[in-house]
Amino acid sequence: MPAVPPPTSLPTWKQAWDEALYGERGFFRTQSPAGHFRTSVHASRLFAEAVARMTREAGLDTVVDIGAGRGELLVALHEIDPRLDLLGVEVAARPRDLPSGIAWTAALPEAVDGLVVANEWLDDVPCHVVEVDDDGELRMVHVDPTTGREELGNPLAHDRVAGSLQEWAERWWPLDPGEPGTRAEVGSTRDAAWASVVERVNRGLAVAVDYGHTKGARPPFGTLRSYRDGREVDVLPDGSRDVTAHVAVDAVADRVGATLRRQRDVLTGLGVSGDRPPLDLAGTDPTGYVAALSRATEAVELTAEAGLGDFWWLVTER
Ligand SMILES: C[S@@+](CC[C@H](N)C(=O)[O-])C[C@H]1O[C@@H](n2cnc3c(N)ncnc32)[C@H](O)[C@@H]1O
Repeated sequence: MPAVPPPTSLPTWKQAWDEALYGERGFFRTQSPAGHFRTSVHASRLFAEAVARMTREAGLDTVVDIGAGRGELLVALHEIDPRLDLLGVEVAARPRDLPSGIAWTAALPEAVDGLVVANEWLDDVPCHVVEVDDDGELRMVHVDPTTGREELGNPLAHDRVAGSLQEWAERWWPLDPGEPGTRAEVGSTRDAAWASVVERVNRGLAVAVDYGHTKGARPPFGTLRSYRDGREVDVLPDGSRDVTAHVAVDAVADRVGATLRRQRDVLTGLGVSGDRPPLDLAGTDPTGYVAALSRATEAVELTAEAGLGDFWWLVTER
């Protein structure tokens, strides 16, 4: 019998995405995240102050930043609390101007006593994309990295390896066979990536911060997006732009036993306040007033509805 040809020779979304971001000439090998999009870390030093406070309140003196970008959070932490032990874990090379007191590595540490934080890392962990076809079958989505043209692969049910993706989708992101074209971004790679970090924490806290969704509120057509030079651009895994998808945060939390809270609630509890300073201060201490007003403005951005305040904090205590 002649072999049945594969339905497509294109890479899966996960394969193309891996290559686009982390291949030899992948986007994050050469590009600084801050040059292309703004995270809480870039938005305000108040974010670092909150992380420092969380670390010290837990009786810890070490912070490990996973997906550390160009070390922006670590540099701020170093200035806020110079006695903290700081380590950046990042696929990109150590930034030239990073203070010598901050350690830097490409590999996850074997074991950590301290607070491990990953801000906007999991959304950049590539995952498979699956779609309901016209017959109501769940099939893998493949993509041409140069044009973005997509094709559907084999039904997952016929593929033993893909069976685990189907199981994940059935549990966390069930799709209606009567709704062709609806999609799930299979978060099992994110669950595994974060579990591999959390299990290295001997004593301390593991904190993942990201945008995401929970069961019952999954977007029907997925959340793949691309960013370049501060703007959203067409989604393309060609290495010229970031490719990201929201995180199924409840699945990750379930895997690692994390609590799930919104950034606005966590930061408010850590003393980040958008309250305006009293007006009298403007008369008695104009410089202090302007500084307090600027902090309040930044706090509002970090805690905003429909903005950074909606981010999820997944916190696991070890
Ligand atoms: C969206 S950026 C976030 C940067 C920074 N945390 C911030 O909040 O501004 C994600 C970063 O994670 C890094 N990254 C992705 N996968 C990684 C891995 N397996 N190990 C180390 N760094 C990784 C990327 O190179 C990139 O710098």
